[in-house]
Amino acid sequence: MWSSAHTLIASISTPTSCPNGVRLYSTFGGTLGYRSRCTRPARSARKPARLDHVGAAALPLAVLTAWQSLVEAGNLRAGQRVLVHAAAGGVGHLAVQLAKSLGAHVVGTAGAGKHELLRDLGADELIDYRTEDFTTVEPVDVVLDLIGGDDYVERSLRVLKRGGTYVSVVNPFVLDEVRPRAEPFGVRVETVMVTADHAVLEHVAALVDKGELRVVVAETFPLEDVGKAHELGEAGRTTGKVVLTV
Ligand SMILES: NC(=O)c1ccc[n+]([C@@H]2O[C@H](COP(=O)([O-])OP(=O)(O)OC[C@H]3O[C@@H](n4cnc5c(N)ncnc54)[C@H](OP(=O)(O)O)[C@@H]3O)[C@@H](O)[C@H]2O)c1
Repeated sequence: MWSSAHTLIASISTPTSCPNGVRLYSTFGGTLGYRSRCTRPARSARKPARLDHVGAAALPLAVLTAWQSLVEAGNLRAGQRVLVHAAAGGVGHLAVQLAKSLGAHVVGTAGAGKHELLRDLGADELIDYRTEDFTTVEPVDVVLDLIGGDDYVERSLRVLKRGGTYVSVVNPFVLDEVRPRAEPFGVRVETVMVTADHAVLEHVAALVDKGELRVVVAETFPLEDVGKAHELGEAGRTTGKVVLTV
């Protein structure tokens, strides 16, 4: 699935609430890839007025992943503690802010150079994963694992309270393997495969327009440099999201 922001120029099944010229932000199916000029109302919402198209395009996929992980899979509630791995990445920096808007205490892992930004976005505690072991923090209710791999799974299970939830978005097939390992810890295991959600995009647009959610754009590339954009993204060091412009 991909994200975009665009101006509606023509609709085939005209939704009366969505006249031509309206600015939308959307998710759209992977098979159409970069050539898509199509979206469906259920996959879109009005673009946050505060954002330009680049900022808005950075949001849908990442923010829906964060929301579905924390709220729907993790059942995160006010007063709980959450650990977000890769907190400065595309999904992570939005997860930090959503968790704060839910009233949670947010712990994040990120390189030290990214701690100032994350504090600014609302993180309460930060761990430089290169020099510190994140299992030294007080136990948490939810772990959002954006890194994966055996070592992160094992240590994440150990840092969770009994009754807590480990949420992985990295590998949707992790359930069968991780659930038995989580049992002795009394921890629930959930995975997320992001889906379109008009209502959540509306909610997010309102948060952005109230100044309660910021999106960080790491870099933009023109469509013809899509290869460079992939190289940067795959290096796994970006802060925020990479955006293609057309
Ligand atoms: N299941 C789904 O529906 C779904 C949807 C979206 C994304 N995903 C997956 O979610 C994962 C995260 O995506 P993303 O776009 O947020 O990633 P990203 O933006 O590429 O993440 C980059 C960030 O990861 C940090 N990082 C790298 N290694 C780390 C480590 N060991 N501990 C803590 N932070 C580390 C980097 O910080 P430093 O520079 O400080 O290292 C960098 O800021 C990816 O695997 C992606 O495929 C799944």
